[in-house]
Amino acid sequence: MHLIRSIPHKSFRDLCDRYGPLIYLRLGSVPCVVASSPELAREIVGHNELYFASRSITVASHHITYDSSGFAFVPYTPFWKFAKKIVMSQLLGGRTLSQLQPIRADELRLLVELLLEKAKAEETVNLSEEFMKFSNNVISRMTLSIRYSGKDDQARVARDLAREVTEIFGAFNLSDYIWFLKNIDVQGLLKRSKVTRSKFDDLLEKILKERQEIRMKKKTSDQDSIDDGVKDFVDILLDIQEDESQEIKLTRNNIKAIALDLFMAGTDTSASASEWALAELYNHPAIFNKAREEIDSVVGKTRLIQESDVPNLPYLQAIMKETLRLHPPIPFLARESTEDRNISGYDIPAKTAVFINVWSINRDPKYWPDPWSSSQRGCPGIWLALQEVPAVVGAMIQCFDWKMKDKAELDMSERPGLTVPRAVPLVLVPVTRLNPFG
Ligand code: HEM
Repeated sequence: MHLIRSIPHKSFRDLCDRYGPLIYLRLGSVPCVVASSPELAREIVGHNELYFASRSITVASHHITYDSSGFAFVPYTPFWKFAKKIVMSQLLGGRTLSQLQPIRADELRLLVELLLEKAKAEETVNLSEEFMKFSNNVISRMTLSIRYSGKDDQARVARDLAREVTEIFGAFNLSDYIWFLKNIDVQGLLKRSKVTRSKFDDLLEKILKERQEIRMKKKTSDQDSIDDGVKDFVDILLDIQEDESQEIKLTRNNIKAIALDLFMAGTDTSASASEWALAELYNHPAIFNKAREEIDSVVGKTRLIQESDVPNLPYLQAIMKETLRLHPPIPFLARESTEDRNISGYDIPAKTAVFINVWSINRDPKYWPDPWSSSQRGCPGIWLALQEVPAVVGAMIQCFDWKMKDKAELDMSERPGLTVPRAVPLVLVPVTRLNPFG
């Protein structure tokens, strides 16, 4: 374990450079395999996907996600298949995403307005923080219809909890790897997980109770007199729970755990992609200018870029792809084998933890990267992120020039974390180039 230093994907890369692209490790008492070449990635999550589509349950993920009642951190089970269908077709499917598009447009407008004010006051902005707030507000509104408005409100609690969960999941918990520490909470992560879940539960219970009261009122009154409005994820999940024709009945814990999964998976990933894209563009001004020319010619200078412009902006899309190649928000896929399997001549037994080092595979520019892992267990948030992230990065290019108070080039190092965060926050001064609101 001492070989897995603070940044696991880099330690895995160093070990694979020394011993080859497929290595076997014992992390404490847990057998692990690390794969680090495009061919092996294809063999494991491509040809043999069904045997490697599970995930190991950790102490923290089990407690936080309501005893593994959710979707993202559970093994490959019939419930996961059922939840995947719901998530793909109803929560993150095209229809819901377009119904909830005004939320994302509104958040983008609010972010640009804030930056215009900062530019006027010539103030520095911590963009790592602002992108995090933006994606957290987007997912809070889409999931629970709450928004952090600066006061001590529900969304503030939700954001602090999201940050705490990311830290807990990002930590290397000895209890998961050393059998005799299984019931001893050496690092205090179990205690933190329990406190976090209990706080999140208070918040979700309050929201669920309010929703159920509204639903009850609707049932007992004239159906048509209450406007349904646009449904958020929790409403959609409550509809599915009430639908007797569903093959599996969702429990209250399933609803809360799925909401929590999407909340977690949708915040840091999108924020990380946005901050790395802008940081790379800052260090590559010629590319920044070329992207701006493209936006000017497609969007013009009188309105703010929108998600619907993105398909017409191939250069911006290429910038996003290159950003995700260099800085994949999920640096390695964490899977577990469900059956004994032979991979490239080596036997991998069932119940082995398998890590696919996407970060290191992507370093080879000849390889066309797949930061979403388009496999059974791949990212269901791809269509949301492919609309949301280029639009926010495009707005930063369209509306502002960016300056640094002292240095000319940005520090691009990483620090440990679940989604490869920047070691140094992205702090820049915006200079208004175009005010799309007139
Ligand atoms: C730039 C943004 C994003 C990237 C690069 C990304 C990438 C990934 C990757 C690589 C995985 C692991 C897949 C595997 O093990 O094969 C994953 C899983 C997941 N992502 Fe994303 N993601 C992003 C944004 C989002 C968003 C916005 C959401 C939803 C709101 C989301 C929801 C999920 C969920 C729920 C899983 C777990 C799927 C499962 O276990 O079946 N992601 N993502």
